[in-house]
Amino acid sequence: MYILRCIFMTQLTSRWPILGKLLGNLQQTLMGFVALPLILVAALFIRVAFEQANAFQETLLKSDLELIARAISGPVTEALLNGERENMKATLASVFSIGRVYGASVFDSDGRRMAAAGITERDLTHSRIPLQLADSGEKREEYRKVGGRRVFSHFMPLFDESDRTQGFIQITRRQTDFTSALSRLTWLAWSLWALLAAVIIGTVLTGHYRGIGRHLKLLRQGMARVAADSPGYRFEIRGPREVQSISVGLNTMLDGIQRREQELEQRRMAEQTLQLQLRDSQTLATVGRITRGFAHELGAPLSVIEGRARRLGRYLGADDRDLAAIRHQVRQLTETVHDLLNYSRPAEPQVEPIDTDRLIRDAVNTVAEELSGKAVVAQYQPCGQTLQPLQGDRRRLQLALLNIIRNAAQVARYRVLVTASGSQGGVNIDISDDGPGFPGNRDQLMEPFYTTRASGEGTGLGLAISASILDEHGGTINLGDSAAGGGRVSLWLPSGPAPERPL
Ligand SMILES: Nc1ncnc2c1ncn2[C@@H]1O[C@H](COP(=O)(O)OP(=O)(O)OP(=O)(O)O)[C@@H](O)[C@H]1O
Ligand SMILES: [Mg+2]
Repeated sequence: MYILRCIFMTQLTSRWPILGKLLGNLQQTLMGFVALPLILVAALFIRVAFEQANAFQETLLKSDLELIARAISGPVTEALLNGERENMKATLASVFSIGRVYGASVFDSDGRRMAAAGITERDLTHSRIPLQLADSGEKREEYRKVGGRRVFSHFMPLFDESDRTQGFIQITRRQTDFTSALSRLTWLAWSLWALLAAVIIGTVLTGHYRGIGRHLKLLRQGMARVAADSPGYRFEIRGPREVQSISVGLNTMLDGIQRREQELEQRRMAEQTLQLQLRDSQTLATVGRITRGFAHELGAPLSVIEGRARRLGRYLGADDRDLAAIRHQVRQLTETVHDLLNYSRPAEPQVEPIDTDRLIRDAVNTVAEELSGKAVVAQYQPCGQTLQPLQGDRRRLQLALLNIIRNAAQVARYRVLVTASGSQGGVNIDISDDGPGFPGNRDQLMEPFYTTRASGEGTGLGLAISASILDEHGGTINLGDSAAGGGRVSLWLPSGPAPERPL
């Protein structure tokens, strides 16, 4: 049924586009397919009922006249046969008390009026009525004009004992008698129809608004909000089930869109980070290659200079100040070359299982020895539990720890404290000191060649080398504050090999 209606609608609207415009929305469709048919059916019903009432009323009024005619036919025939005009008049006058009659008269068989009451026709001798009544011997009814008015006339033939027509009775009733009652009724009926039409339209409009219109309006407003950049907006689940399911569907769709947007954003950011990392690692690799080559090239002439300076010392004596200065500068240059080689990754890393506790202890002991005779001490405080072994290049991890512990020792007033603890899937190592704490921008401290130390005292590669080694092993390095008010470097190293960047 629904499909048939859809096909019907489509055909209608495609044939008459104006209908498409008129039935363009649900409200108009309801008006067109519910209210209008109901109103038309009501009108048709009233019209048919009216015609029936009209016919019934007419029959009733006509049969009234026939009954009256029958009632008086006896006495009138007798009076006519006896020539008693007064009796005829009296009988005719009595009809006014029986019903609503306009006029009553008696005619002889030729159509001459014998007696009358009310408004009647004077003479019917020239009319065909007397002849027709005599021929048929039956009653006759017709609308005629009497006294300038349209009247309904009932003619009844009067017979003597031997069934010969002696005359006839004419009883009339105004035509307006038939219509006036009905016209009053017509007015009332069509007023009721107008009221019914208003009630139907009102009911359809209210029903549409309360049932679906207001909910669709809310949906429209919600969609406008989503379109106006409120992607977090969600539709309230209310109204009839059909609208509720639309709201649920829209919410699910919006959730899906938001989720996909978030995923896209995350993927975009991850790709961006990856690209940056790739660029960084490519740059680092290039810088590393150049640095390594450069350091190697410098190393050979430096060892030659160092050798020749040592040989010259035999002739000039060990106290020669110029020679001592040259050897000092050569030593510093050699250290820098070492640092540079350490910063760029070694070509062949030696990966092996490492005893974490031992690694830390060795690094702390080395610095402690370097500090012997000074006010500062370097101490390792084991956590009391067995630390998980690490996997990596022991020499490079040692170098990273040494750089950080040496940094701390260089600024500490009295004490450098190294602690370690097991963490999920790795080891935490904290190096704290009681020095002045990290200066300025902490990110900058990790950059190669950044130093706050006096010229010739540091290359600024210590932290950069350590960060690069931690990175090689899949670990992290963070600069913070120690409980003693100094600096604290927190390292984390995974217990297994670095997952994504194998050494
Ligand atoms: N424990 C610390 N407390 C305060 N400042 C620190 C500490 N460790 C490092 N720094 C700061 O970070 C800077 C960079 O350190 P980094 O080890 O990279 O270079 P450096 O120590 O200056 O030189 P070198 O190459 O000899 O190590 C240092 O100059 C210093 O200012
Ligand atoms: Mg340093």
